[in-house]
Parts: sequence; structure tokens; C-alpha cells
Amino acid sequence: MSTWANLGLQDSASPLMEQLIFFHDHALLILVMITVLVGYLMFMLFFNNYINRFLLHGQLIEMIWTILPAIILLFIAFPSLRLLYLLDEINEPSMTLKSIGHQWYWSYEYSDFNDIEFDSYMIPTNELMNDGFRLLDVDNRVILPMNSQIRILVTAADVIHSWTIPALGVKVDGTPGRLNQTNFFINRPGLFYGQCSEICGANHSFMPIVIESVPVNYF
Ligand code: CUA
Repeated sequence: MSTWANLGLQDSASPLMEQLIFFHDHALLILVMITVLVGYLMFMLFFNNYINRFLLHGQLIEMIWTILPAIILLFIAFPSLRLLYLLDEINEPSMTLKSIGHQWYWSYEYSDFNDIEFDSYMIPTNELMNDGFRLLDVDNRVILPMNSQIRILVTAADVIHSWTIPALGVKVDGTPGRLNQTNFFINRPGLFYGQCSEICGANHSFMPIVIESVPVNYF
């Protein structure tokens, strides 16, 4: 989970989030290189008093600085597309979790196991234990096995919600009348916190998600 002064991405707990972080760093590096180059040129030009009276046009340099940015953009576009299709790839899931967004809580269904269903509400601040996280902990956690491919189906009962777990790289909108699908693979045990990330109403900030990842034989 995110802790104080954590401005970057959270530590990844799934292979897809790892790829997302790699892509973020890759894009950021290109961004920094362009910013430094352009910043340097602007700085040097600003303090330069010389001009060339005969220079009116330069076909070659204009060709270069038109085509070069297009090529640089391709180096971002292709990895981005690769990741986009990778995120939607469903790879023989060993279980399915259904998640339904309500105003303002999540309800879950484990349809593989005799129709287990439960609601997951945020624990109010005045009922919080000493080790609980304010506005983040829930009364019923989603317990999932680690090291297995999990499919999640997301929908909503009233307005649009979004089932989002940053550490797992999952973000799916729950839309009334639609069923959205994605999948993830948790590669370590632990608690993973998330929040709804669609502006779904007055108590939008109070419908967190907690995943408890456990070894398969404990699950
Ligand atoms: Cu549900 Cu925001």
C-alpha cells in the first residue's frame, strides 16, 4: 500500500504491474531526455547575442526535427500497445471472482465455491482497531490464493464504480448493465489495498477494497 511521502508507484505484487512500472520508467526516461535537451537549447539561445544575417531557411534540419520526434513517439507507442494487449490477455484462470459495486460498498461472489457471497464495507473511523488503516480497511476482505491466475468480473448495481488495486495493476470499471472482465496473478502473500476510482457519489471515497493474498493450501 501507499505510505507517507510515497510519490511514485507502489511496489508491484503481480507480473502485469511489473510491466506497467517498466513502461512508466521507459516513458519517463524519454521525457526527461527531451526536457533536458530542449531546456538546454532554450537556455543557450536565451543568452546568445549572435545572429546569422544570411540564414533564412534550412530544409535539412527541418526535415530532421520533423521526422525525429515521430520516430521517438513510435518507441513509446509500440511498448504501450504491447502492454495494452497483454493486460487484456486471459490465461486459463483457476478461479473467478465477481465484484459488484454499490453505493457505497462492494459485494463479492465466489461462484466457483457453492455461491459464497458477501458485502465488504469500510470500517468507520470510530470502530477502527489500533492496527487498522483509516478509510482503507474493510469488514470483510477478499481472500484470494497467491501464485494463481484469477479472473475478475466487475459490474455495478447503481452507478459507475471502478475496482482498482494499484499494487496489482488492476483497474476495471463496474458499469450497470455491463460485465467487465480482467485478470491478475498475485505473486506474494499480503494485504493489497485499493479504492473505487470513479466519481460515484457522495460517499465515493468510502468504498475501499482489501485483498488478502494467501498461499493456495491455506486458501
Ligand atoms: Cu464507487 Cu467511487
